[in-house]
Amino acid sequence: MNTGKYTCLEIFAKKTEAEGRVRVISEKYGAAEKEAGDGYYAWLKFSLKPDADYEIFCESCEVSFCYLSGNRDMLETGVRFLEMDKGSGAFAAADQACWYDQPMREAYHFSPWKNWSNDPNGLCWFQGYYHMFYQQNPNGQEWSDMYWGHAVSRDLVHWRHLPVAFAPQQEILESRGALIGGAFSGCAAALEDEVLFYFTRHRESSRGDGEMVEQQWMTQSRDMLRFTEEKCVIAQRPAGASRDFRDPKVVKIGDTWYMVLGSALGGKGAILLYESEDMEHWHYVHPLLREEKEDIRCFECPDFMELDGKYLAIGAFMAHRDVCGRHQMSRYYVGSWKDKKLAVESEGWFDFGSNCYAMQSFEHQGRRICIGWVFDLYGEHIVYENGACGSMTLPRELHIKNGRLYMTPVEEIGRLKGEIIYRGGGDNVGLWHIRGNAYRAEVICRENTFFTILLGEDGEKSISLVNDRDGLRIVTKGVKSEGICFQADVDQVRKLEIFVDRRMVEIYVNDGEAAGTKIFYNASKEGCFALRAEASGGMESVCVGLMGSIWN
Ligand code: FRU
Repeated sequence: MNTGKYTCLEIFAKKTEAEGRVRVISEKYGAAEKEAGDGYYAWLKFSLKPDADYEIFCESCEVSFCYLSGNRDMLETGVRFLEMDKGSGAFAAADQACWYDQPMREAYHFSPWKNWSNDPNGLCWFQGYYHMFYQQNPNGQEWSDMYWGHAVSRDLVHWRHLPVAFAPQQEILESRGALIGGAFSGCAAALEDEVLFYFTRHRESSRGDGEMVEQQWMTQSRDMLRFTEEKCVIAQRPAGASRDFRDPKVVKIGDTWYMVLGSALGGKGAILLYESEDMEHWHYVHPLLREEKEDIRCFECPDFMELDGKYLAIGAFMAHRDVCGRHQMSRYYVGSWKDKKLAVESEGWFDFGSNCYAMQSFEHQGRRICIGWVFDLYGEHIVYENGACGSMTLPRELHIKNGRLYMTPVEEIGRLKGEIIYRGGGDNVGLWHIRGNAYRAEVICRENTFFTILLGEDGEKSISLVNDRDGLRIVTKGVKSEGICFQADVDQVRKLEIFVDRRMVEIYVNDGEAAGTKIFYNASKEGCFALRAEASGGMESVCVGLMGSIWN
């Protein structure tokens, strides 16, 4: 393996036997070795020379994640992932475009290189780049002790992977499963020449004896690759708040910095408000809002902002099921800012597909942009070698109109538009072999026509968008979410923008009046779009075009 520009090898290795270690050998520069983790994947870093040939030997250990980093223009090149050839045992650079070009991986929605990811964290724009951090388990396809993954983009469309940013506390890694936790969700506040990060450090006993501590920490960075020593800024939750006390999000309102945190008060979900003069010392004010609905363990990943002359809070309902049978929906609240509380005037569901959770927003040049985690809430993920569980929605631009939240994909997504494969009036459109299964469809309805659009089919499994007397909804068959009603709260359907991206469907209704995200694993390399309208002449126009990959 030749290092090219890179000067560091980062490798996550776990012992399979007592002597487990990683050795890195160069004929010219000699050898180095490090011990693998005992009972956990240790994050080992080796300094390498640029433009040099090295061989990596893993002795009595397993490697989960491995990449080259350390070059000066890291934000431009990203890391280079190395994968082990099973036959020879040699590590070599993997081709990114091929790696992502599989039926079970999204082509134009962000997903990590492999393994588990959840909430977007630390979203911001800083010195020419959009940054997205995210909750990550680099070592497996299931949730575990949490790291922060990191990716960067110039245009919000094409992303490059950067080195893992934060790791779980060492005592958790070394506890052999007795403790769980890590660097939980948080945010970034981008200032002129540095970025401040706030996040929760979580520590919990896995023995089920109830011990769980969540504290808010901060760190700073000037280059987005190196971070200052972490400081604990909120060590204790306020009286009355539940043990769930996490996911700080900071926002400036007027001249004051506020922080919102997800929690519960008196058994009901609450978003707690803190305030600070120096961004380091935080004082509890009171709850920004409380949710009266029962059966919510707490709010997770709250967000709060000023938008279009109103104030908007959004929060994810932990351990909740709505009347349609949907799990863990997120709710938005629009209102005014009175006495440092949100006086709620209207509210609604954030995403009707209910595979979208823990959204986070940031502001750049007057646009409020958010990204949500595409969360397999119904156990539909299919584990396969080198697979990834968890991906992100398209970046969405937020607006408030008539008290309602509107979301549309950011206009930059248009850059991925490719060949048009169908354009016409269409009461009956049947596209059965859409190569690559990554497409965008725009449907304009003349009136509130009833229709069914089949968006994916794999053997007995299918996903459709249906509009009839019962309203607009996503309908799945043959998968675990079958029978749940993924209903959009709209009175009429005039326009649909549908994104199908292999194992995911993301739908925008009436220029953003509602948005719905649903996972649908499809093993086929070809997709389908089959529309049938009930009344003839009901569809004004239908346009279906291929979408390009963000990894080419
Ligand atoms: C939401 C969440 C957060 C927490 C993180 C842990 O998905 O549970 O509340 O910080 O994930 O990974």
